[in-house]
Amino acid sequence: MRDFFSKEKGVLGSSGSSWKEQRTFSLNVLRKFGFGKRCLENQIMDEVRGLLEVIEKFGGQAIDIEEPLTISVANIICSIVFGKRFDYNDVKFKRLLFLLNEIFHVTTGSSFLVLFPTLRHVPFDIFKGQTVQRNLDEIQSFIREIIDNHRLCFDKNNINDFIDAFLLEQQNQEMEGNASFTDEQLVVTVQDFFSAGSETTVTTLRWAFLFLIHNPYIQTKLHKQIDEIIGEAIPQIEHREKLPYMEAFVLEVLRMGNIVPLGLAHCPNRDFEYGGYLFPKGVTVLPILDSALQDPNIFNNPQKFQPERFLDGEGKCKGTQKDKMIPFSTGRRVCLGENLARMELFLYLVAILQKLEIQPVDTSDLPSLKGHLGITYMPKPYKVKFIRRY
Ligand code: HEM
Repeated sequence: MRDFFSKEKGVLGSSGSSWKEQRTFSLNVLRKFGFGKRCLENQIMDEVRGLLEVIEKFGGQAIDIEEPLTISVANIICSIVFGKRFDYNDVKFKRLLFLLNEIFHVTTGSSFLVLFPTLRHVPFDIFKGQTVQRNLDEIQSFIREIIDNHRLCFDKNNINDFIDAFLLEQQNQEMEGNASFTDEQLVVTVQDFFSAGSETTVTTLRWAFLFLIHNPYIQTKLHKQIDEIIGEAIPQIEHREKLPYMEAFVLEVLRMGNIVPLGLAHCPNRDFEYGGYLFPKGVTVLPILDSALQDPNIFNNPQKFQPERFLDGEGKCKGTQKDKMIPFSTGRRVCLGENLARMELFLYLVAILQKLEIQPVDTSDLPSLKGHLGITYMPKPYKVKFIRRY
């Protein structure tokens, strides 16, 4: 069902036993390489520091942060998957990110393709499906090149990243006469990590900056809590509990930013009944996530940006209500990168606000809070000023 570009390979676009095998393997490897661990925290902080240096160079001028932010966040996935990061001026890497970005943007058309996969048979480019395919072909050849290099220096006693781990599993399987860990699986899985794992976090952070300039009182409160609790220390994940207002802010950005409003298409492998409705096997089911995120019965006055809704009477963060606060979806196909994304959002925001104040270019003409719906719902391009706090 969501396999129109991945041909049932990888995690995002596969289903059944192949999906189960690739998802389980990916999660195991990612845990091994640091999901939820201190080493990943250090990697994220290295990238945040790199971004702060870039911002510093602009000396408080108005900038569109999207490109440097994308390089910074994508480098975290690169470290995990490729075992290497890329320079801010690396032309090939920038091209890769541009192609990805274009996939996420093209479209109202490709959202239609996501919603109604059968439309891909329409024989012309109105849904930009061909642009997506062209970009994916170029991205995949970039990934293949990196995999080939890994294969050349492969050493089963020195497994450094996701690709190495996959190659090892491939070898083990071949010895057992099993062949589900194919080269094509690897290419598409790596592509999945990129496509699902950088644009989404970047988009969420871009919404966060936008909400901050629209709500200056929130930025003041965040600055105050960061100053009191962290001061000039290096931000760490364990500060999360001590910064409930920041936690609540991140949740509210995820709710209002509404990054994947339509969810991704699901397809039941058997008939089932839910809420009095029959869902026949094979039907396209769209888990419209914003029907929950914007539901007034769950979130009072849902159109208002209000981190306080996630705080209890003592100012502690109430946490997510698993079945209601579902920006990462829910169920067996819940976002595989949720933990990584939450770590990234917290560390980037704390480290940036620790040092900088985000100011609008013109207080009487703030950038729009109306976004653009592609595969994700993203803010339109905008500029802000990052001003040193001390
Ligand atoms: C704020 C950031 C993010 C948001 C809002 C987000 C949201 C989502 C959503 C809504 C889905 C669809 C789940 C479904 O099918 O019901 C999904 C799937 C997925 N996400 Fe994320 N995601 C984010 C970050 C990441 C990151 C950092 C990764 C990196 C590894 C990632 C990897 C994936 C993968 C591989 C899937 C497919 C899971 C499957 O089909 O089993 N995501 N994400």
